[in-house]
Amino acid sequence: MSDAPQDLQQEHRQYVKPLGGWQRTHDCGTLKSEDIGRRVCLMGWVQHRRDHGGLIFIDLRDRAGLTQVVFSPDHNAAAHAEAHVLRIEYVLAIQGTVRARPEGMENPAMATGGVEVVVDAWKLLNTARTPLFPIEDRTEASESLRLAHRYLDLRRPRLQSNFALRHRFYMAVRNFLDGRGFYEVETPILTKSTPEGARDFLVPSRLNPGSFYALPQSPQIFKQLLMISGMDRYFQIVKCFRDEDLRADRQPEFTQIDIEMSFVEEPQVMRLAEDMVAHVFDDVLHVKLSPPFPVLTWREAMDRFGVDKPDTRFGMELVDVTSHVRGSGFKLFAAAKVVKGLKVTGGERFTRKEIDDLTEYVKAFGAQGLAWIKVREGEWQSPIAKFLSDAERAAIAEAFSLVPGDIVFFQAGSFEMVNAALGNLRVHLAHHLDIVPRDAFNFLWVTEFPLFEYDETEKRYEACHHPFTSPAVGDEDLLEGDVARARARAYDLVLNGNEVGGGSIRIHTAQIQRRMFRALGFDDATAEERFGFLIRALEYGAPPHGGIAFGLDRLVMLMAGATSIRDVIAFPKTQKASCPLTEAPTAVDAQQLRELSLRLREVAPTEKA
Ligand code: AMO
Repeated sequence: MSDAPQDLQQEHRQYVKPLGGWQRTHDCGTLKSEDIGRRVCLMGWVQHRRDHGGLIFIDLRDRAGLTQVVFSPDHNAAAHAEAHVLRIEYVLAIQGTVRARPEGMENPAMATGGVEVVVDAWKLLNTARTPLFPIEDRTEASESLRLAHRYLDLRRPRLQSNFALRHRFYMAVRNFLDGRGFYEVETPILTKSTPEGARDFLVPSRLNPGSFYALPQSPQIFKQLLMISGMDRYFQIVKCFRDEDLRADRQPEFTQIDIEMSFVEEPQVMRLAEDMVAHVFDDVLHVKLSPPFPVLTWREAMDRFGVDKPDTRFGMELVDVTSHVRGSGFKLFAAAKVVKGLKVTGGERFTRKEIDDLTEYVKAFGAQGLAWIKVREGEWQSPIAKFLSDAERAAIAEAFSLVPGDIVFFQAGSFEMVNAALGNLRVHLAHHLDIVPRDAFNFLWVTEFPLFEYDETEKRYEACHHPFTSPAVGDEDLLEGDVARARARAYDLVLNGNEVGGGSIRIHTAQIQRRMFRALGFDDATAEERFGFLIRALEYGAPPHGGIAFGLDRLVMLMAGATSIRDVIAFPKTQKASCPLTEAPTAVDAQQLRELSLRLREVAPTEKA
């Protein structure tokens, strides 16, 4: 029995003592054979308790690790007798002497596994309720239970090491940027809407009834204002707030390393970003990266990988066969704007059920179905093969270099749908087939993004990056012309298929900024009302400038080998943007609403988001 039911814990409270001047000499992760004979004082939590032949063994835990502590009746009978109250997660301080573990009792899996501390004196600093789940990396506890008791969850060694890594990451970033002449400047959290493509979180203003602040989706406008202020080089490790649908790599509040530089163009920002990432990986993980990172244009990324954040740790590139099936008897192919395929070597063994599952998978990306061809010796097994002419089959076989054992999946339709379906299927299949190398860090840049993207629901063009991104040199006149063709001076940094950073060279003249707002469908009055302060600032001698922002949580997640950014954020939100620990968001009382001049109205179930 090692945990304490509630009533026992109550009874044990009488033994709790103050620290009374005791001071730690070591943490629980460092004692080694060199320390044998040393008198030490350790403090921490009871991880395990074992009673063996009159001896009581405790594994004492703190963030540095575990140390075996022994209560021996021969050494100190009183200390041993009192140790019977100890239960898991009780907090204690011990004073004792380091000794070698008896031969055969060493634990090479533990950093301190060669030694133990025999207790001379100890104090119970606090009792603990029985934790609702074991404080161990392997846990069956649901995420909602763990988040509701995050202070227990965070005691698990894996999470402790994630936060040690995150801390070293901050330090490495700050040291690097300080060394390059950057100033760390804070920008407001209560501000005006900053468009980054998500919904705003709004904060009502008590002193200005009916008016609201927006929490920043990023400090984008402020960092540009800092360049106009002559700060030259700015950075900030900063919280950003976006009310958008959440996923494993998205939180409503997340952290950016936000950077802006004056008198630069793309190469200077990209080199700085690469140097920073290389410095941090070396400092934190002792991994040597070799910048400059490869560069793909957006078009090339879409053509070859179907997505704008390609994972290049494995092959399986998409192949465009549109021209080969242009006049096909297979109407679906003949009529489609784009026809592309994805070959999986050895995929011929996929079962009907597996193919059905993959078909369901691609439907989430707007596909109607998933055409396929299995290549067997001398024949194709396929529901679509009979519609293809010999010439089309030959062209397809050549385009994919088909050999028996292959399977090819096809998608036909719009550029966006075909790429989304196959690009995501490619990554899904690579994980399914377990062909993704685990230790590789494949960084790359994606450049030459379109300046605008068409929003089907809003039926208008939106900025692909944000409205302050400069059009490519020579594409300025497309602002009043074929906007779909305009390219942006934007760049994204991608790591193993994750967008870990994005930035651009900014518009730094008021005229182009006004033309940009017009191209986005803002009339001059609306542009003035929303962004007049920025346009005015641009009129006061704005230097050419550009920058980038890194998703700090995503980078730390990938460095820690975690699969969700929730594992590297101390108090993350759930999929529903709530906090199971504090239960935020919560209702507020009528008095607070009155002070804010707000009244709630009934929301019909059909209206709920
Ligand atoms: P962007 O919107 O691309 O650019 O954001 C920069 C990086 O922030 C990360 N990120 C997120 N991480 C977690 N949860 C989210 N909800 C989330 N949204 C974004 C991504 C992304 O690459 N102001 C511009 C930067 C600039 O132009 O300098 C901006 O915010 O890793």
